[in-house]
Amino acid sequence: MTDLVIQEEKIIERILTLELVRVTERAAVAAARLRGRGDEKAADQAAVDAMRRELNRLPIEGTVVIGEGERDEAPMLFIGEKVGAGMGPKVDIAVDPLEGTTLCAKNMAGSIAVMAMARAGSLLNAPDVYMEKIAIGPGYAPGIVDLDMSPEENVRALAKAKGVSPGEITVLILDRPRHADMIAGCRKAGASVMFITDGDVAGVIFTAQQEKTGVDMYMGVGGAPEGVLAAGALRCVGGQMQGRLLLDTEAKRERAFKMGIKDPKKKYDMKELASGDVIVCATGVTDGALLKGVRFGKEVIETETVIYRSATGTVRRIGAEHREMSKFRLD
Ligand code: FBP
Repeated sequence: MTDLVIQEEKIIERILTLELVRVTERAAVAAARLRGRGDEKAADQAAVDAMRRELNRLPIEGTVVIGEGERDEAPMLFIGEKVGAGMGPKVDIAVDPLEGTTLCAKNMAGSIAVMAMARAGSLLNAPDVYMEKIAIGPGYAPGIVDLDMSPEENVRALAKAKGVSPGEITVLILDRPRHADMIAGCRKAGASVMFITDGDVAGVIFTAQQEKTGVDMYMGVGGAPEGVLAAGALRCVGGQMQGRLLLDTEAKRERAFKMGIKDPKKKYDMKELASGDVIVCATGVTDGALLKGVRFGKEVIETETVIYRSATGTVRRIGAEHREMSKFRLD
């Protein structure tokens, strides 16, 4: 690529940062119409349809690297699907049109529509499997916590680095039986364990807002797609994160191998999960600590969106009032 082409693409990418808002807004509004209806599939499908439609309007040559699943299991926004209007920069797209499907179906706090965009080749191309994750917020020397350390060791190391006793450390963990030993380990070290029932993209981001959320560290096994999205956002605000795919069957290892993952036990740091200039954009579906949910008024639909851009570390919050109600319904 010539310098001029690179320069032009940079400008386009900068402009595109704000364009992503429309994509997650649409997905969030579509899902929010189905809040509390007990139908996870319908809410997810509505978000997928809306997100895909809006993505296909963007002036990009996008490839979905993190999506709704692999081609044989997901008809839309599957891994490898080409999205965008077909002209513009070649980019990787990671989507979770409805992160926290259960939260939305039950109208509980914390469901969001979220996506990331980065230059082609920048986002980990991972199958839809589980990922071990550990994350802390900014302000610590590199390598303080590690996936290969026990929960007790991580709590003690973080407490030491923070200059507090382990009893003053709060660890956020997804409330799942598979985390029983991890929870016991954190508590044994003296830490307080805070639970979420779903939504670990926000869970990871909470570590970067310790003063507001009280969360010092996120730990546990969640979705790999959510891991990549969270890494992109955390890179922007300067925390630390590691992820390791849980490839515990031959079939999963084969799927991963086909996607270019040669070492099934590799521990990825934040920059390996999401490198380069990554833009992450999320809109609230239901109210949560990260974002307000969609409000349906008589004349106006209100949304709240946050956009993270790693190249500059800028975090923008965009509150929008949408008046074209019919467009939101039919488009
Ligand atoms: P979905 O929106 O796909 O339901 O994901 C919600 C979520 O809680 C993620 O945030 C998390 O990474 C994952 O599910 C954990 O998986 P599981 O529910 O199988 O434990």
